[in-house]
Amino acid sequence: MAADLSPIDKAKFLAAKRATDFVEDGMKLGLGTGSTAAWMVRCLAERIREEGLRVVGVPTSSRTAQLATQLGVPITTLDEAKWLDLTIDGADEFDGNLNLIKGGGAALLQEKIVATASDQMIVIADAAKDVTQLGAFPLPVEVIPFGWQTTKALVEETLVSLDVLNRDVTLRMNGAAPLVTDESNYILDLHLKRIGNPRQLALVLNQIPGVVENGLFIDICDIVVIGHADGRVTVRDVNSGEIEEDRVEFVPTSNIFADLD
Ligand code: 5RP
Repeated sequence: MAADLSPIDKAKFLAAKRATDFVEDGMKLGLGTGSTAAWMVRCLAERIREEGLRVVGVPTSSRTAQLATQLGVPITTLDEAKWLDLTIDGADEFDGNLNLIKGGGAALLQEKIVATASDQMIVIADAAKDVTQLGAFPLPVEVIPFGWQTTKALVEETLVSLDVLNRDVTLRMNGAAPLVTDESNYILDLHLKRIGNPRQLALVLNQIPGVVENGLFIDICDIVVIGHADGRVTVRDVNSGEIEEDRVEFVPTSNIFADLD
């Protein structure tokens, strides 16, 4: 199975594997959502199996909860855990200040609550997510279904006075019906192409009635771990300014891939 990984999956796996080095015995962890975060859950499960690592995770989606349970990673709720040591999650884009766009997997609301309730957030990503300016990836905004078309119109009107390049807003679909999040909401995708002032945009969007949360994570992420398909892994710490590069061994026979067979 491992030998069949695409270069992008290999990069995601390496980032996830390196990030799990930050996990210490006894930690309470936020478990992100998405394909990169799924690798992280697999790497964590391997450390639990092989080292007897004791951790408990708070999943950020029903998908992650299901995967963690399937792989034997103990989980709990945020209300039980109250505060977390570390959250490890993927991202759709990150910039030089480690501000993020998240929500490509429609889990931004739980992801933001969980990351904010953590001492530290580590983002794991392949190098394609590294951007000089956020906005090429459509910005997800979670809205309540009641009056969503009015909320969409208000979002479009608000964008007129903001520093963005484009203002198309679309409702995310799941086949013929609107996609419904774990919190029973809808997602609007804002096709902005370039976000000049992410901090201002994040604040203004959350003032609109009907908007529950937006996918801009500002000053939440501390470290990004970037995987490269050639085996290199870059660790960038926004607080210390340090950038480290090393190699992570890719072990094709690892039983980490067992659930994918
Ligand atoms: C889910 C997210 C994901 O972290 C983001 O979409 C990245 O996904 P992937 O690791 O599959 O590229 O924000 O809501």
